[in-house]
Amino acid sequence: MTTLSPPVVYDPYSAVFKTDPWLVYRQLRDTAPVYVSERWGFYALSRFDDVRAAVRDHETYLSFEGIDIDDTAKDMSAPGFLPDIDNPRHDQLRRIVQRTFLPRAIGKLEDDVRRVVTGLVDRFADKGEADIAQDLSWPIPYAVFFDVLGLPTTGSHREDLVRWSHGLKDREHDDPRLTPVAWDALHCTKDYLAEILMARRRNPREDLLSTLVTAAVEDHDGVPFAPPVIDRDSEIVGLAFVLFMAGVESTSALLSTAFRELALNPDQRAALLADPSQISAAVEEALRFDAPLQVAGRTTTRDVELHGVTIPAEQRVFLIYGSANRDERQYEDPDRFDISRRQKRHMSFSEGLHGCLGAPLARLEARVALEVALPRLGDYVISGPMQQYRSTPNMRVLDHLPISFTPAGRNS
Ligand code: HEM
Repeated sequence: MTTLSPPVVYDPYSAVFKTDPWLVYRQLRDTAPVYVSERWGFYALSRFDDVRAAVRDHETYLSFEGIDIDDTAKDMSAPGFLPDIDNPRHDQLRRIVQRTFLPRAIGKLEDDVRRVVTGLVDRFADKGEADIAQDLSWPIPYAVFFDVLGLPTTGSHREDLVRWSHGLKDREHDDPRLTPVAWDALHCTKDYLAEILMARRRNPREDLLSTLVTAAVEDHDGVPFAPPVIDRDSEIVGLAFVLFMAGVESTSALLSTAFRELALNPDQRAALLADPSQISAAVEEALRFDAPLQVAGRTTTRDVELHGVTIPAEQRVFLIYGSANRDERQYEDPDRFDISRRQKRHMSFSEGLHGCLGAPLARLEARVALEVALPRLGDYVISGPMQQYRSTPNMRVLDHLPISFTPAGRNS
């Protein structure tokens, strides 16, 4: 008698799924490469080649219904929210901010990033213990990105912004809706951005908010990108808002993954200490291994035939980057963290029209963090329970990563 295994269930909203998605992803790739969720009404692609082909096909897979797979897509997305905009407007808006994030421009920030990281590591280097997520992974992108954007890096406004940035991600498990905390954070953040953009118009500075407010771009009705009165619904606020949301959490996720995997793989950590030139490869492997943005949504413009399934036009399709990165059709031994892996390409920054704008900055922050911290942490080990950050179902981020180590100078 043959026993049929039950069909795979992929429910990205479930708390249980989030604790360990990897087996489900493997089953999806093997048995349901075009998955249909009757319960939630979406299709999902999980193999590397299919996900990559979809992100590069901007005619078939549109973004106007949002990359988020919960109510963030309809409730937070607004004019100017770059990842959710299709062409031609997308390219016009992206051009306003593109130059700031080109590798050469970002490279100039290296000394500042090193100063930030060194200051943070100094605070715990003598203690022999730290929570890498709280003490390093979160504070680095806050400090660096707030500076780039031109948001206050000290004082009560900064505290408000940090609180709101967490509030924006407040969700209950198994529930796609925004909580009241998230709604409040949304309105407060947008009102604050509108206010600070008006202030930059009066007194421009050398920062990204000033770049936005001085951009000479109009929409097809001739309305300027930075209108005379900027309010929370203005396109310019939408663009500032998505930058504010995109720059911190994902970078924090990358940093924590890198430190976690190097704790779990001491031979590879030793290899990095012996040869720091491999650190960039380790950053790419951390990105591949645990994609911070696990999944992004698209909407089809036409019927798509794939693996014997027809995805009709106007359907939501979830592109599972986290699964594409673990596809055994693409990588040898994909569940192994391996900094010497030859296949470096991954989907964690996506590709094409919506490929991550901030990739050079995230890579710089991660490289410098490892360069500065690894020699000072020596043979660190994970010393307590790791905890996931409660966020939207798209994201996978650590909130706590406790470690212990022997402070330098005390090991003789
Ligand atoms: C490790 C850190 C990061 C990861 C893993 C990441 C990942 C991604 C991914 C996967 C997308 C494409 C979403 C889609 O499928 O449509 C994206 C888009 C984007 N990212 Fe990042 N991101 C990171 C850091 C940053 C930073 C530091 C910024 C700061 C500017 C940023 C800004 C953006 C923006 C503005 C977009 C939309 C681009 C567009 O639609 O043209 N990201 N990011």
